[in-house]
Amino acid sequence: MHHSNHRIGFKSKFGAIAALAGSAVGLGNIWKFPYVASTNGGGAFLLVYLFFTFAIGLPVMLAEFSIGRRAQQNILGTFRLLAPGTKWFLFGFLSIITASLILSFYGTVSGWTLEYIWLSMTDSLHGQSAEDFQTIFSSFISHPYKAVLWHIAFMVITGAIIMGGVQKGIERYSKWMMPILFIIIIALSINSLTLNESSKGLKFLFFPKFSELTGQGILAALGQSFFSLSIGMGILLTYASYIPKNNNLTHISLQVIIADTLVAILAGVAILPAVFSFHIDPQAGPSLVFLTLPQIFQELPAGQLWAVLFFILLTFAALTSAISLLEVPVSYLIEEKKLKRPWATLIATLLITFIGCFNTLSFGPLRDAQIFGMNLFDACDYLCSNILLPFGGVLVCIFAGWYLQKSTLYQEISNQESLKIRFFKLYVFILKYIAPVCILLILFHALGLI
Ligand code: PHE
Repeated sequence: MHHSNHRIGFKSKFGAIAALAGSAVGLGNIWKFPYVASTNGGGAFLLVYLFFTFAIGLPVMLAEFSIGRRAQQNILGTFRLLAPGTKWFLFGFLSIITASLILSFYGTVSGWTLEYIWLSMTDSLHGQSAEDFQTIFSSFISHPYKAVLWHIAFMVITGAIIMGGVQKGIERYSKWMMPILFIIIIALSINSLTLNESSKGLKFLFFPKFSELTGQGILAALGQSFFSLSIGMGILLTYASYIPKNNNLTHISLQVIIADTLVAILAGVAILPAVFSFHIDPQAGPSLVFLTLPQIFQELPAGQLWAVLFFILLTFAALTSAISLLEVPVSYLIEEKKLKRPWATLIATLLITFIGCFNTLSFGPLRDAQIFGMNLFDACDYLCSNILLPFGGVLVCIFAGWYLQKSTLYQEISNQESLKIRFFKLYVFILKYIAPVCILLILFHALGLI
């Protein structure tokens, strides 16, 4: 396949890994994983999660990497190039819509984390009771415009990075944010291990109680795994189109998956022991990070410092994921609509921020706008995480496992046969049968069909 290519990709292998891991490591790992694991049996959930991540997540991620790097195009161009004259380009459009929708509600929670950096820096969280934290949080998220302003601030930073382009934006910022993120989460985990009753939290996280694992928990593990790895909807495909041709895709996907899993587990280690030491209900759910943690921090020595560090960590994690989402529509506008990067970024950021504000306001002025009994934010999250991502995951498997020639896949994974690939047959088998069937199960479950 020959096509002229003047595209700029990632400069170094480390830059590529930092960017890809940056996309994967996000609010899903630090905000979502600890409470989803807690409400689904702790250690037992972790085991199932690990199994899905390596057995299904890895092949699907590798498929997205191979397709993306093969085509070296935006998502729409990718399907036009690899599947000319077919309807596969529709999948490209679906991917652009999904990425934009995910970013529209991702920006809401990311805006909250900015407010919490501010609150902890100004020490406003000090000396408050549990009820005070509840009031602080609920009056903030329901405020007529405060949350919207932070949401816009977050989107401006996201847009500014993407405006810098692949090397001077995405790669440059991921390269220093990701190492700092790792250092902070390790420091937080070590700190948490020194707490009196930390062993209770660790036991909860690592000791499997299979009696608490339900069918729903198993499906939640698969969904969480996909969301956390950023796979399923062809979003990583855009980043993969920037991976240098001589990098080993199998190694990179393993490294990204290990980094993502490690951060999820470290987030559990950082949060759960503290939760147990201060006798807080670990099943507090989505509010765990904003209600419970500030309370824990103020009982720790140097609590303010830990609080600031934690919310910076959360913001970095969110930011490196948000840029990967924004790059999907932006690269489409640049390559298909021939816009200059600054204009493409401006248009996409404005549009997504505009839609996103409705999600942010759905905790306040727009709380009565309900879809199927959910507010706009929850409806958007549900549609993306439980329906569009799994649906896209099946399509990725069908495209890579059934439509694409096996030799094309093999050539890309083996760098034109210069690498020895050991598990190719098993990998194709998982892509063709195991992965799509498992994913269809979550999808039907999400739709209430089983
Ligand atoms: N993986 C990110 C997280 O865990 C979310 C995400 C999903 C980012 C899909 C990009 C694409 O927070």
